[in-house]
Amino acid sequence: MPLLSRRTLLKGSAVAGASFAIGAGFAARPGIALATPVTLKAQFTDAAIASDGVTQKIMTYGLGETPADGMPPVLRMRKGEPFAARLVNGLDEPTTVHWHGLRVINAMDGVPEMTQPYVYPGDGFDYAFTPPDAGTFWYHPHCNTLTQMGHGMTGVIVVENPDDPVFDAEVVLNLRDWRLGKGGAFIAPFKPRDAAKGGTYGTVRTANWQQAPTYEAPAGGLVRLRIAATDVTRIYTIGLEGGAGMVMALDGNPVETPFLLDRLDFGPGQRVELVVRMPDEEGQSLTLGNFRGSSPWTIATLKAVGGTSLKRDLKDVKALPANPIAEADLSTATRIPLDFTATAEHKAMPSMCGSLGYTFWAINKVPWQGDTPDPVAPLSDLKLGKSYVLQVRNRTPHAHPIHLHGLSFRVLSSNKRAFLPPPTDTILLQPDEQAELGLVADNLGDWLLHCHIIEHQKTGMSAYFRVL
Ligand code: C2O
Ligand code: CU
Repeated sequence: MPLLSRRTLLKGSAVAGASFAIGAGFAARPGIALATPVTLKAQFTDAAIASDGVTQKIMTYGLGETPADGMPPVLRMRKGEPFAARLVNGLDEPTTVHWHGLRVINAMDGVPEMTQPYVYPGDGFDYAFTPPDAGTFWYHPHCNTLTQMGHGMTGVIVVENPDDPVFDAEVVLNLRDWRLGKGGAFIAPFKPRDAAKGGTYGTVRTANWQQAPTYEAPAGGLVRLRIAATDVTRIYTIGLEGGAGMVMALDGNPVETPFLLDRLDFGPGQRVELVVRMPDEEGQSLTLGNFRGSSPWTIATLKAVGGTSLKRDLKDVKALPANPIAEADLSTATRIPLDFTATAEHKAMPSMCGSLGYTFWAINKVPWQGDTPDPVAPLSDLKLGKSYVLQVRNRTPHAHPIHLHGLSFRVLSSNKRAFLPPPTDTILLQPDEQAELGLVADNLGDWLLHCHIIEHQKTGMSAYFRVL
């Protein structure tokens, strides 16, 4: 099908000559309260990540105009309440912000060429939306992502629900790796040979930009642990030692019945919420570990503080209130087959938003051409309000965390899993997995679908749906 040039479309709607483009969602609508925007400044910083030197020119977000001295801030929002952020680009290359997992209107989705113009150095963009769902989400650029995310720009979002139970403490963990060499300097973000397989791993593993940090929490208390896998490659298999915890929510959505955490796999882009029971004695600790691969390692430790145990009981933990996500009507749903495959290797098109220069992967045989003004046609046009079942098939020997923008889906069936998770925005497709994903196309616009192993995304494993 012929495609309009999205650049032309965007030019028509952006405010000409203004350094701050006004997103469509920010236009004042009568009767709708607007939030005061926070300034989210994309900028460089230096930080000690590796043990042998300070890493220069880390990319991060800071709040306000003052330089950020560390990790992008945890952004707190409230379900059903307007939120606004003014992105200011203090980097030396274009950027945007994508609100991963938040069902925002299309104009706020942060995909350059597709939903908004590039935000050039020195320019800005106003984002404004009302998060419909409570839970743990995250934010990151959607431009030159292997570098920008790999160099630091991944932050956690907590959308609070006033109806949530109160726990004794809350700890947010932003899990990611860094590709650092001698003296903490950045090394090449990927190796082509690895990009054609499971992806290129980092050399330094962190939680909240620290190697195996320790946090204190009240002895015998219940701690809400919000964990986001924001790494560009790593798939985690988490587990606890020295205590127990219940799985409360996955990818922002509460599980119907909380269950005891044993081992849980989650991949880039995914989130896990736990409630853990702290040990009773001061000084005792509980460890969150990664058990994937042959040598387990510590992600983070919680240390009990306080002379008297709060003596809480995990049995008292109840399910969190569900988010308002429509269920697909399977009697009327249209089926859409989606095959994830390797593809013939060839050179990729250059792209303003960073091309890795290779193509290794495809969705329905079509490798993504890069973030160009005229991308490949949508996978399919979806009718607003109609139900669909995506029949996804991983025809590769690697796991792929497949992420859909703007719409949440439910895993209806799978040949590889017994437990079907709550609605999600990202499914970690196992090698040779076939699954059915049900969704209602209830959000207008162009929505990307891509692997969140960024090397896979950027070497072909991307596509999009158009809801109209
Ligand atoms: Cu978390 Cu298209 O991204
Ligand atoms: Cu992948």
